[in-house]
Amino acid sequence: MNSLQGKHILLAMSGGIAAFKVAELARLLIQDGASVQVAMSEAATQFMTPVTMQALTGQPVYTNQWDARIPNNMAHIELSRKADLILVAPASADMMAKISLGLADDLISVLCLARECPLIVVPAMNKQMWENAATQENIQKLKSNGVGILGPTSGTQACGENGMGRMLEAKEIFEGVVAFFQPKLLTGKKVLITAGPTYEAIDPVRGITNKSSGKMGFAIAQAAIESGAKVTLIAGPCHLDTPLEFTGSVNRINVTSAQEMSDAVMQELDADIFFAVAAVADWTVENAATQKIKKDGSNQASPELNFKLNPDILAEVSKKSQASQKPFCVGFAAETNDLESHAKEKRVKKNIPLLVANLGPSTFGLDDNELLLVEESGTSKMPRANKLTLARQLINHISKKI
Ligand code: C5P
Repeated sequence: MNSLQGKHILLAMSGGIAAFKVAELARLLIQDGASVQVAMSEAATQFMTPVTMQALTGQPVYTNQWDARIPNNMAHIELSRKADLILVAPASADMMAKISLGLADDLISVLCLARECPLIVVPAMNKQMWENAATQENIQKLKSNGVGILGPTSGTQACGENGMGRMLEAKEIFEGVVAFFQPKLLTGKKVLITAGPTYEAIDPVRGITNKSSGKMGFAIAQAAIESGAKVTLIAGPCHLDTPLEFTGSVNRINVTSAQEMSDAVMQELDADIFFAVAAVADWTVENAATQKIKKDGSNQASPELNFKLNPDILAEVSKKSQASQKPFCVGFAAETNDLESHAKEKRVKKNIPLLVANLGPSTFGLDDNELLLVEESGTSKMPRANKLTLARQLINHISKKI
């Protein structure tokens, strides 16, 4: 996707066993277009060699502030001035304490103190060190000084213990950096999203669902978080991870049936934008059995299912939004044929400002898609791309309308 094209990232490593993940992180950042300059504390060199990081980044690695390769011995000024972002990973408890206090007694802490660019730290430490009040105070201080914090997460630790303090995986840190550089188009805005399929029970073990994977809705949630929005993601049954809260926030509400989805949406209606991405079942089984239906009837007759119409969530929200013009409603439609005419008809029927259509169901479950945007002013196309790229383009498009 090359979201980091032209960005200079100063990857500052302090000591910790999680340093091994930083090799992969450097690779991901470079692959996405960034230039990566590595600086390492003395402790970091105990875990990874400067030669490894130099080979991966193609740039000389600096390990102390007196490096003679920098004119005037001004490594701290020279290196930090070139950067668009300083990323401290792993950030040990000791290094975070130094940065929060403004100490400058080694290359990493001096780079952070002398910086003019933003700073993100990626904590990595034992759970007791993380939970220690001193570390928590330092974290709060860093946050209130505008320093970004990525992670940590909870899990097995190198010391054999299990708990909070484990550094995020390389891919997650990379996604956090990409999110950081996305334009903050929705700061202060609330975004409500439905995603995935719904499931209508026939009996306790059987039900009716559809092929929606939830990927498009979750991509929109991620793009909205990256844009600084406060996101509520109402998800039908799907196995996707909730996007991490890098720059915005997310509240995920899991539901099963269309009625549950509708109830959750009505509770969370105080939003600026509503993305109805879920493939909601139009019908539910009115006479769902409370016990498993047996096929051993004497005449082998099939069970008689009576269907009743589910609430049309989008149409309801659209109706409620007419007076206040809030939320801005975005509908989705997967069509097998006559995409444009069906999409135009659906937009008018639902009375919404924007309908996003695609040719399905072949796109269900795929990582990419191509979209047709239908609005009152006309139609426009978003050519085939990764769903996250399309989601970012959609956010950009809509941010100009609210
Ligand atoms: O009416 P149809 O299902 O074709 O419209 C699709 C759009 O309406 C999607 O945005 C979908 O999320 C939404 N929808 C809804 N509630 C329903 C059915 C569809 O919100 N019961």
